[in-house]
Amino acid sequence: MNEKQEITGTLVLTVFTATLSSFQFGYDIGVINAPQEIIISHYAYVLGIPLDDRKAINNYTINSTKELPTTPCLMDSIPTPLAEEETTASSNLVTMLWSLSVSSFAIGGMIASFFGGWLGDRIGRVKAMLVANILSLAGALLMGFSKLGPSHILIISGRSLSGLYCGLISGLVPMYIGEIAPTTLRGALGTLHQLAIVTGILISQIVGLNFILGNHERWHILLGLSGVPAIIQSLLLLFCPESPRYLYIKLDEEVKAKKSLKRLRGDADITKDITEMRKEKEEASSEQVVSIIQLFTNSSYRQPILVALMLHLAQQFSGINGIFYYSTSIFQTAGISQPVYATIGVGTINTIFTAVSVFLVEKAGRRSLFLIGMSGMFVCAIFMSLGLVLLNKLAWMSYVSMVAIFLFVSFFEIGPGPIPWFMVAEFFSQGPRTAALAIAAFSNWACNFIIALCFQYVAKFCGPYVFFLFAGVILAFTLFTFFKVPETKGKSFEEIAAEFQKKRGLAQKPKATVEMEFLGATETV
Ligand code: GLC
Repeated sequence: MNEKQEITGTLVLTVFTATLSSFQFGYDIGVINAPQEIIISHYAYVLGIPLDDRKAINNYTINSTKELPTTPCLMDSIPTPLAEEETTASSNLVTMLWSLSVSSFAIGGMIASFFGGWLGDRIGRVKAMLVANILSLAGALLMGFSKLGPSHILIISGRSLSGLYCGLISGLVPMYIGEIAPTTLRGALGTLHQLAIVTGILISQIVGLNFILGNHERWHILLGLSGVPAIIQSLLLLFCPESPRYLYIKLDEEVKAKKSLKRLRGDADITKDITEMRKEKEEASSEQVVSIIQLFTNSSYRQPILVALMLHLAQQFSGINGIFYYSTSIFQTAGISQPVYATIGVGTINTIFTAVSVFLVEKAGRRSLFLIGMSGMFVCAIFMSLGLVLLNKLAWMSYVSMVAIFLFVSFFEIGPGPIPWFMVAEFFSQGPRTAALAIAAFSNWACNFIIALCFQYVAKFCGPYVFFLFAGVILAFTLFTFFKVPETKGKSFEEIAAEFQKKRGLAQKPKATVEMEFLGATETV
């Protein structure tokens, strides 16, 4: 059967519809970046801090040396500036509120990441995405109307709801796409999730430009727009078939499953899909479902789950989201005169390299790409800090910082960006897979939260040396990967399990019982 035959209109529509969620995920990550100063100044206004002090707070909060435009407003008539201690206290309060506005998104994501798979199993993939859209719309409404009320409270709650939505879909979308894709296209279609995320980041950066929506008049619309893909998706989902695997394996509805497959595959032969689903169903019923606790207590799973968690920790603690959440102020500190355009440059490079990685990941191994990516990021992080440290002496250092940031992001997307998301599934067979994916997604979001909340404080504390710190962290994770992470490309579960045993130093004397237990599954990845 040739691939072209397998790509039907329904398949294209369904994948497009599903990745509207991923797009929105990316939009929510990137949208908070460009209007940072404007929203901070609005918070100060809502909290009743006079104009001059608002300027001081802006400068203090983001380390910026630039005079910022502040909206003339009612508070301008208050003549008395705050005393110095009061300014510091107000500044701390605004910094905290801003950090919370950024990080509440990740709190939501962290909580919901546990439930994506569960909701999909309970009510089906399509209905689960429809229900999730309620969260997205509620979040978008709160943010869209935040200018009319206590903006800090509305934005923090709106971002938490959007985070809950993104946590759910970060499990649901890859699962749904993986289930409807023909085997030959599963890898390529699966990576569209990350591609849609980075496109969302880029679009949010473009519409966040000062002359489009990133200004004092329209920043609330910028935030509220995140609900638009949810509306479009809710309408399109009505035309999308339910996952045949869900219908067959979970509900035992063979006739419905075949009908759905026919819609997805058109005239193509569906016997291969049916055989595959049968095999999966048999496997699922022969293997016991493993709980999260068992992943850590059972010695056969401990090593793979630790490696899985470390991959996600490496992805997040590389500091990548420090760039995506705060790049505009980082570029400003680095002396770039048009920081917002540099941020868009980051988004563009990010999208290009994600597309490159879609192609690379099937050629080179996962382990090697992860290592190349991390090593490249290590070198770039050093140059990023060097650029900031030497900026006062050499003006051209601002370009060094900028190029280093661009390359940092490119290296990230070559390996550490996409790989942890799908490599974890390759470590585990049917029984432990759901629990492993849930805990991996949770740890990713938890670290995302820590970075979102702490990055500003760490940056303030370390000053221009901040990326040396990340360089150290990246180096540690690179060494870990080198010594502990096995290659999984083109390997069966038996081979992957054997690699893990080897890394544990048990290769020579395998414990028969452990091996038997772990090598239970024979599915080829
Ligand atoms: C990955 C990360 C996410 C990050 C994105 C940037 O998907 O999990 O946190 O923002 O890449 O491209």
